[in-house]
Amino acid sequence: MLVGIFNSEDEVAQAAAKKIIDVFDFQPESVLGVATGSTPLPLYRLLREAYQKGTFSLKEGQAFALDEYVGLPVDHKQSYRYFLVNELVGDDKTGLLDENLRTPDGNAPDLADAAIYYDDAVAAAGVDIQILGIGSDGHIGFNEPSCSFASRTHVGALTAQTRQDNARFFASIDEVPTQSITQGLGTIMEAGAILLLATGKNKAKAVKQMVEGPVSARWPATILQHHPQVFVLVDKDAASELELTDYYRQNWDSYHRHI
Ligand code: F6R
Repeated sequence: MLVGIFNSEDEVAQAAAKKIIDVFDFQPESVLGVATGSTPLPLYRLLREAYQKGTFSLKEGQAFALDEYVGLPVDHKQSYRYFLVNELVGDDKTGLLDENLRTPDGNAPDLADAAIYYDDAVAAAGVDIQILGIGSDGHIGFNEPSCSFASRTHVGALTAQTRQDNARFFASIDEVPTQSITQGLGTIMEAGAILLLATGKNKAKAVKQMVEGPVSARWPATILQHHPQVFVLVDKDAASELELTDYYRQNWDSYHRHI
C-alpha cells in the first residue's frame, strides 16, 4: 500500500483526479470503478472540471458502481444510480454515456440472479482503476464485517453503524434501506489499481485498521493489504491514528520520484 497523507480533502481529491486522468490519458476506453457517498464528491467535481477544460473524458470509457441499495426506486434521489448519473453522466458532466454507467439492479425480482449478472459484467469489462471510500466500520463497497474475502457480488444486510452513518442522506433512519447489492471483496480485488479515499476524523480508526491492523474479516478493508496496487489517499484527520506516518510520507515521495 502507498499511503498519501494530505492537508485537506481537496488535496486528496486532486491526487485521486491526477491518477484517474493519467489512466484515461493513456487509454481513453478504460473502465473506472466508482464509489458513491460523500467522500468522492470533490473528486467528481474535479473530473467534471477537467472534462469541461478538455483534459479528461469518460466519453469512450465505462463506469461500474460498487453497489446499490435494495428496494429504492432508481429515480429516488438516494439511489446510487441517481447519484452517479447526476455526478458523471452527460456532456455537462464528464461525457460518460448513460448506457456506459453500469449499476447493480437493486429492484430485480431475483436479486441473487441480478448479482451474478452484475458480477459477470464487471469481470468481463475488467476494472482498470477503482475508486473506494471506507465505512467507519471498515466496509468497502457494502462488504460489512464478517464478509468473505472471496465474496462475489451479493446481497447483504447493512450494519446498524452503516445505516446510522447514512441516515444523514434520508429524512430519518427508518428510511435507510436495510440491504444492498454490492460487489464482493473478491470482485473488488480484481481491479487493476485501487484508490481508497478517506477524509475526516470518523474514518481514522478504520484507516488505522486497514493500513496497520491484522488482515481480518472484522475490518473488511484490510483485504486491500493483499492487493499489489493500492493508493490510500487520506487527509490529516483520517490519518490521525496511523503510527508510521513519517515512513508513509517518505515512501510516497520516493515512489513518485521514480515514476
Ligand atoms: C459507496 C460505498 C461505501 C462508501 C462508504 C463511505 O458506494 O461503497 O463503501 O464509500 O460507506 O461513505 P462516505 O464517503 O459517505 O463516508
